[in-house]
Amino acid sequence: MKILITGGAGFIGSNFIRYLLASRKDIQLVNFDKFTYAGNAENLADLSKDPRYALVRGDICDAPALKSLFAAGFDVLVHFAAETHVDRSIENVSPFLQTNILGTQCLLESARRAPKLRFIHISTDEVYGSAPAGGTFTEVSALDPQSPYAASKAAAEHFVRAYGNTYGLDFVILRCTNNYGPYQFPEKFIPLILANAGDNKSIPVYGDGMQERDWLFVEDFCSAISLAMDKARPGSLYNVSAGSPQPNLHIVRAILQILGKPDFLIQHVQDRPGHDRRYAIDSSKIRTELGWGPSFTFEEGLRKTIAWYQENREWLDHARSGEYSSYYDRHYTYRSETFRT
Ligand code: NAD
Ligand code: DAU
Repeated sequence: MKILITGGAGFIGSNFIRYLLASRKDIQLVNFDKFTYAGNAENLADLSKDPRYALVRGDICDAPALKSLFAAGFDVLVHFAAETHVDRSIENVSPFLQTNILGTQCLLESARRAPKLRFIHISTDEVYGSAPAGGTFTEVSALDPQSPYAASKAAAEHFVRAYGNTYGLDFVILRCTNNYGPYQFPEKFIPLILANAGDNKSIPVYGDGMQERDWLFVEDFCSAISLAMDKARPGSLYNVSAGSPQPNLHIVRAILQILGKPDFLIQHVQDRPGHDRRYAIDSSKIRTELGWGPSFTFEEGLRKTIAWYQENREWLDHARSGEYSSYYDRHYTYRSETFRT
């Protein structure tokens, strides 16, 4: 099986590549990534000698680069590449339109010309907007995105479906909740808590900290994507979640307790504009139809994550200092224009 991954130098993509290489023998993987600030070549350092894996630097908005790439003939494309941080989307919307909408459409143009390609589109629970207290969204709930990031992800999904309907593209959409685990960039909440608490620095909690997120250990999302590659029907859509939303303050306190750090590190700061209060989705469809379920409880996943960040202090230091951004140039010499099939 020949698999193209976009955005594989980021958090979930790099975990997914590692998951596939460990769980499947007969695969060829190409990771196509622009290496924005979120792309970290150190995430992939241990993979570079695996003959089943190749890295190509490139932008999903670059149609000629994609044309050359697709000449290799892929069976499956897993599309992770995106601008992903909600706070950044509030600061500057343009890169989110560029990559998440126009980039996805550019990728779809190549994908629709690729014979027998399955397009797995990685989406988010944020497309539904904020869930009412006690309620959950199913796959047929209306989309009501509230942040520029969420709006761009909702638009991207519409294009994926339109390409399926209009050109017969075989696609699967997965809407997942907040992931956490190894290799997550420390601008996101859980690694930020770990980084700051480790240095006895204050932890910024937006507003009252009672916003709820449904955290899923990244390996459990990887298993859902892998199942979808093999078993999902063309044109299907699945929610993926652990099913236990928790307030942000509970997460911070749980981490501080495990680390043996005091609660006074918590510092309430100004809330995120338009902050979604609660994300909660019903994932019974993927559990029933594909037999998926999470393997890790939140406590297990959190302990594994904390252990990973403690054992990989250098990775975290490089991510925070910016040193990680020169790793690509120091270790790789090839670029998308030198990629040949
Ligand atoms: P990330 O920010 O860690 O990584 C994004 C990757 O995409 C980076 O390697 C970056 O270099 C690459 N990229 C960005 N723009 C690109 C472009 N124009 N061309 C090629 N590569 C580009 O992201 P993540 O947290 O791993 O999320 C991956 C996907 O999963 C995203 O589509 C995101 O919307 C979705 N998602 C994330 C979560 C989560 O909790 N992290 C939850 C649900 C869905
Ligand atoms: O729900 C899935 C989404 O989860 C993904 O689609 C996004 O790509 C991903 O970034 C994530 O979005 P969130 O906004 O939920 O994640 P973030 O880690 O930024 O924030 C999690 C919660 O913690 C949120 O309620 C905001 C809050 N927060 C975050 C930061 C960075 C704080 O209170 N303080 C902080 O400093």
